[in-house]
Amino acid sequence: MALRIGIVGTGWFAGKHAEILAGTEDVEIAGIVGSSKNKGDVFGIRYDAPGYESVAEMAEAGPLDAVYICVPPMAHGEIERELIERGIPFLVEKPLGADAELPQDLLGFLRLKAPDLVTSVGYHFRYQDNVRKLKEALHPGRIGMATGLWMGDMPQAGWWRRQESSGGQFIEQTTHIVDLLRYCAGEVEEVQAVYASRFPDEEWENTNVHDIGTVTLKLKSGAVANISNTCVLPPGAGKVGLSFYAREGLWEWTPGHLTSILAEGERRTVEETGNPYERETEAFLHAVRTGDKSGIRSDYADACKTQEVTFAALQSALTGRSIKL
Ligand SMILES: NC(=O)c1ccc[n+]([C@@H]2O[C@H](COP(=O)([O-])OP(=O)(O)OC[C@H]3O[C@@H](n4cnc5c(N)ncnc54)[C@H](O)[C@@H]3O)[C@@H](O)[C@H]2O)c1
Repeated sequence: MALRIGIVGTGWFAGKHAEILAGTEDVEIAGIVGSSKNKGDVFGIRYDAPGYESVAEMAEAGPLDAVYICVPPMAHGEIERELIERGIPFLVEKPLGADAELPQDLLGFLRLKAPDLVTSVGYHFRYQDNVRKLKEALHPGRIGMATGLWMGDMPQAGWWRRQESSGGQFIEQTTHIVDLLRYCAGEVEEVQAVYASRFPDEEWENTNVHDIGTVTLKLKSGAVANISNTCVLPPGAGKVGLSFYAREGLWEWTPGHLTSILAEGERRTVEETGNPYERETEAFLHAVRTGDKSGIRSDYADACKTQEVTFAALQSALTGRSIKL
């Protein structure tokens, strides 16, 4: 029988997931929750799926096997609560919220009401081949340092530019790099951050997020990392990556490649192929069908730890103090 999947959100990433779901065998898009029923209806035409005003309304209209949540950080809370209450599995896009408190509350509610519920979080880099290779090659105890970057331009979405809506670049975007650092090198125990607004209001209207920042992270292993980000660049001039400096050599990861330099003359680059979003959906739907969650590489509880780190960085930047986790 086809799995009946609901989608919450009608924006860019809801579209990306909807296209993958529509091309997946034995999956039916059952309904779309938009910020209005009309927005859901319009988005759903392509998939022959009706729009709804809320998750409750969609769930009451017919059985749901799972829901994809693709809304901006400030819109989380009620959506997850409703799904947990009803025992409906969900895949939620990162980040889990604009702060760390709400995800922690939701995690508590999840553990109380539906501890075995299948959840997945959209840290899609974890599903890349080059990340699998990186994780296999690295031994957390042998890593000296890591340096990460998310250097880009100012996104168009109005919500992204507001601190209270998105949480800022480190929480909204650079979270991917923090998550990869945790995935490959282990947990973070302390963070210290410096953020600034270098060009406030120069070109971007109604913006109050910091546009530059750098975060130093102490890992439980004893390793130290630095992750920097900016959104001052012109479109198309970006750079994203994470490098590890270990006793065995240097690994440079970017979304499109992995280079390892193990000794003089031992330099190898592999290009990334394949679609991590499809693999993410495959693993999630397999878990929904069978209960086997082993293919899910980031669940709600794990993603809460990434959220804790990115929110601690904001607290550090605002207070000027280092924050222990
Ligand atoms: N994993 C990735 O690579 C990746 C890439 C892009 C975006 N994302 C994440 O996906 C999320 C959405 O981003 P986007 O680019 O689609 O944004 P977007 O601005 O294109 O779309 C957001 C949508 O959410 C809707 N919305 C807002 N509040 C809602 C609510 N309470 N109920 C229902 N709908 C609501 C808006 O109307 C809009 O349609 C963000 O958290 C973003 O970080 C992840």
